[in-house]
Amino acid sequence: MKGSKTINVAIFASGKGSNAKKIIEYFANHSFVKISLIVCNNSRAVVLEIASENGIPVLLIEKNQFKENGYLASLQKHKINFIVLAGFLWKIPVVLIDKYPGSIVNIHPALLPDYGGKGMYGMAVHNAVVSNKEKFSGITIHFVDEKYDHGKIILQEKVAIAGDETPESLAEKIHVLEHKWYPRAIEKVLNEYANTERVV
Ligand code: GAR
Repeated sequence: MKGSKTINVAIFASGKGSNAKKIIEYFANHSFVKISLIVCNNSRAVVLEIASENGIPVLLIEKNQFKENGYLASLQKHKINFIVLAGFLWKIPVVLIDKYPGSIVNIHPALLPDYGGKGMYGMAVHNAVVSNKEKFSGITIHFVDEKYDHGKIILQEKVAIAGDETPESLAEKIHVLEHKWYPRAIEKVLNEYANTERVV
């Protein structure tokens, strides 16, 4: 099945979903990429409203089952070929890493390998960067492997930190970068992926 079918993408998100929204907008009417599922671990997450506004099905997940089987059967039911993590809080279980080799990407709001690892999520990252008086921060888009924030890097973009920077102002700058670069980086990876065998 080389290069002929739609690539069905699942976005995994836990919260506000501003990246998920940008990705959905970017790929609306795309020639071969379809955002087919939103996977979420929080029934009150704003990303669920975004999914509903865009008519995208939602899979609400629970921790023990996710750890155990990664909801693989549900992903297969939706014919998911590729997974995008966009502010997703839980570690991806090995069952999914094995089933989707080179087909799961993540965005991290810092310049990995700095400020990565367990507990380094969202504002915790920006608090640490600002309190260490770093001169730069940025974003890292990378493939996902079995370790937190560890897989091969696809793209990094830097941003300068102002003298009076706060974690909140840094978070805004980082979001601007993320919204610009994440959809493009995903498209680049999927262009390459389109010429390989599909994972389902
Ligand atoms: C984003 O800044 C993303 O980089 C970060 O969570 C935020 C989600 O924002 N992810 C991590 O920290 C992963 N370790 P969003 O819900 O508005 O897209």
